[in-house]
Amino acid sequence: MQKKRILSGMRPTGKLHLGHYVGALENWVKLQDEYESYHLIADYHALTTNLNSDSIYDDSINMLIDWLAVGLDPKKSPMFRQSQIKEHTELHLIFSMLITVNRLERNPTLKDQVRDLNIDNVIYGHLGYPVLQTADILLYMGNFVPVGEDQVSHVEISREIARKFNNQYGEVFPEPKPLLTKFARLPGLDGVAKMSKSLNNTILLADDPETVMTKLKKAVTDPQKVRKGDPGRPEICVVFSYHSKFNQTELEEVAKGCRSGELGCFDCKKNCASKISEFLEPILEKRKYYEKNINIVKDILADGEVRGKKAASETMAEVRSKMKLG
Ligand code: TRP
Ligand code: SF4
Repeated sequence: MQKKRILSGMRPTGKLHLGHYVGALENWVKLQDEYESYHLIADYHALTTNLNSDSIYDDSINMLIDWLAVGLDPKKSPMFRQSQIKEHTELHLIFSMLITVNRLERNPTLKDQVRDLNIDNVIYGHLGYPVLQTADILLYMGNFVPVGEDQVSHVEISREIARKFNNQYGEVFPEPKPLLTKFARLPGLDGVAKMSKSLNNTILLADDPETVMTKLKKAVTDPQKVRKGDPGRPEICVVFSYHSKFNQTELEEVAKGCRSGELGCFDCKKNCASKISEFLEPILEKRKYYEKNINIVKDILADGEVRGKKAASETMAEVRSKMKLG
């Protein structure tokens, strides 16, 4: 039986962090055997928040290296940039005729962005963001889209556009469904709900053990636990949530030691840092390999773009024929 298709995408923001791993990549790696996956580098989408990047290209390459380093397999799944496959812009335009401005204004992530970025004037790119994302998904006939909770509203818009197209012109597209990532997202070092590059509260997949240790030393813990001996509350501590992901075998012990006061934050952080670095070690090694052999990375991208282009142009041929665009 034909495997179901997945379209997974990420905006290139340079080197990735542990939040990306826990919230997305770990899941992508698992899914790549069960499904036929396409991995999209959403470099057009990146322009909505980052017009000033020195180089979207470098950001894309850095992200691709992280994808490869965590175990995404380019033989199984093509990896490509949105900007290199012109069909994305074409389908985006067609889809923009199938959804109302009113509907897009109701998109909850639009409101979040306006708030988070503190912007008064919304660019069209923000409004049309989910329409472009729909083109990303449907160009590759994605049945499933692995996303976090925050992107579910975009997949819903994709379903509506797919339905609208199919009703208008005949059955072409599947109605994509979100595949929710289960693990709760990793909080930032500063105690903010999530790691984010702009908040500078991340541990990068490229961080060496020394850097991880330095960063963890500054991590926010239970403010009531000032020194060893004070009882602490692991459930409100950022470091403990890292333990729960990267040090599951000692989790009970850490919780107990924290509560009783026997475990001090310094030792707890040191232990946590070394567990995180243990996890990162093979990733760092692969990263170094790809950095040294950047031509391999470029070849992977070029190959992915040929394969992506093939799938995308087949879809566009069908769309054009159904729409009698000649
Ligand atoms: N909007 C997604 C994000 O911010 C990135 C993205 C772009 C995407 N195109 C996509 C995700 C297609 C899934 C499918 O995370
Ligand atoms: Fe957090 Fe560990 Fe300190 Fe407890 S002992 S507050 S879990 S760093």
